[in-house]
Amino acid sequence: MKISNRLKLIASLVPDDANVLDVGCDHALLDIFLVTHKKNIRAIASDINSGPLKRAIDNVKFYKVDHAIDVKQGDGIVNITAEVDTIIISGLGGNTIIDILKKDLDKLKNVKTLVISPHGEEEKVRRFITSIGYEIADEIFTCDQNKAYVIIKFVRGNKKYTDLEMHYGPIILKNKNEYFYKYYSECRANLKELLKEIPKDKKNIYDDIEEEIERLDKILKV
Ligand SMILES: C[S@@+](CC[C@H](N)C(=O)[O-])C[C@H]1O[C@@H](n2cnc3c(N)ncnc32)[C@H](O)[C@@H]1O
Repeated sequence: MKISNRLKLIASLVPDDANVLDVGCDHALLDIFLVTHKKNIRAIASDINSGPLKRAIDNVKFYKVDHAIDVKQGDGIVNITAEVDTIIISGLGGNTIIDILKKDLDKLKNVKTLVISPHGEEEKVRRFITSIGYEIADEIFTCDQNKAYVIIKFVRGNKKYTDLEMHYGPIILKNKNEYFYKYYSECRANLKELLKEIPKDKKNIYDDIEEEIERLDKILKV
């Protein structure tokens, strides 16, 4: 089966033997990849919308993996069972992911691992999930079709992080890969251009952008 490199990287952060709830599964290709490529995975592929749900049901049938994947309709983590120890939420906005988890915090009791790939607001997601009894075990920064993606694996723990680590990711910062350098060098160049256009009376905005450029100078060692 063909799945994107991004989904393969998400799968790489899911432990063997995991009992997965994939929230916002869409086509369920990630779950099908997991149960066919990793050891002893069971999955609930869950989505709020009927279009994706039908795609998921058709794919699970096509790949003959209905013994290992249950497809269920539902909002957020409502479909969680006591056996689920790993939640994946990928491709939803950071604020939506926080709302989904916040709404059902009591349902996370048995959840040891969260694999999260937010569209934006990564810092807020790190701050929230580390405030509810998890720490960051692994992270990947990647690009797929010219878009940057961050994938974060949280496990139970209470490690503390600096503001810089919360913003860029402690492991992403340690491993700074080619995608990281390319993406943030472009961000830095764009911010420098933007700075030229900020009127003098918008001092707060100017200072914020300047501060971000200084931060990037340090981590990119420009
Ligand atoms: C952009 S797709 C991401 C699909 C896949 N997870 C990925 O990373 O490629 C987002 C999916 O989340 C679903 N979704 C949005 N809000 C949801 C919610 N509150 N609960 C469950 N699913 C949701 C949408 O229907 C859609 O199928």
